[in-house]
Amino acid sequence: MTEEKKDAHHSGKKPSRREMSRRQFLSYTLGGTGAFMMGVPILYNLRFAVDPLLQKKEGGNWVKAIEADKVTVEPQSVKFKVHVVDGWYENDSDLEAWIAKDENGKIFALSPICKHLGCTVNWNSSEQFPNEYFCPCHGAHYTKDGKQLAVASAPLDEYSIKVENGWVYVSDLQPNTRV
Ligand code: FES
Repeated sequence: MTEEKKDAHHSGKKPSRREMSRRQFLSYTLGGTGAFMMGVPILYNLRFAVDPLLQKKEGGNWVKAIEADKVTVEPQSVKFKVHVVDGWYENDSDLEAWIAKDENGKIFALSPICKHLGCTVNWNSSEQFPNEYFCPCHGAHYTKDGKQLAVASAPLDEYSIKVENGWVYVSDLQPNTRV
C-alpha cells in the first residue's frame, strides 16, 4: 500500500475515486453474470413458444391431415395435432392449415398465421374482401395462394405436404413457394 493510501485508510476518509470505480466494476461484473445465469433458462424455454413445425427436425415429421379426395378448390381449415418430444419435454400442440387444390388439381396447405403480427387469418370472412384470406386484427388480406395484398409484408407460410395412400400429410413450414 502506498503512503497516500495508508493515510486515507487510517484517517477514515471516504474511499478515493479509484477505489469506488473498482467496486463499481465488481458490482457490474457480478450483476452481469447473474443476469446471464437468469437469462439462460428463459431463452431455453422461449424456444418452446415457437411453432414446433418451424423447428428443424431430421427426416421431417409427417402428420396425417385430411383425405385427399375431400380437398376442394375452396380452402378448408384442417386442424391437427403435433406430438413434440424434446428430451424431458413432451407436448401435443394443436395446429391448423388451410388446405386447397389449385386449378390444376395440385394440393397445397397454408399457415393461418398472419405475417403482419401473428393473428389468425380466415378464408372468405370479410364482405369487403371475398375469396381472400382476411386477418381481423389490422385488416391484412391475402389471395388464395397466400400472396399479401395489404398491411402484411410477406405471403402466408406454406406447409410441406405429401399425398400417400389417399391421405394428405403435412410437415414443416417453409416460405411460400406459390407467389
Ligand atoms: S396481425 Fe394480421 S393484420 Fe396485423
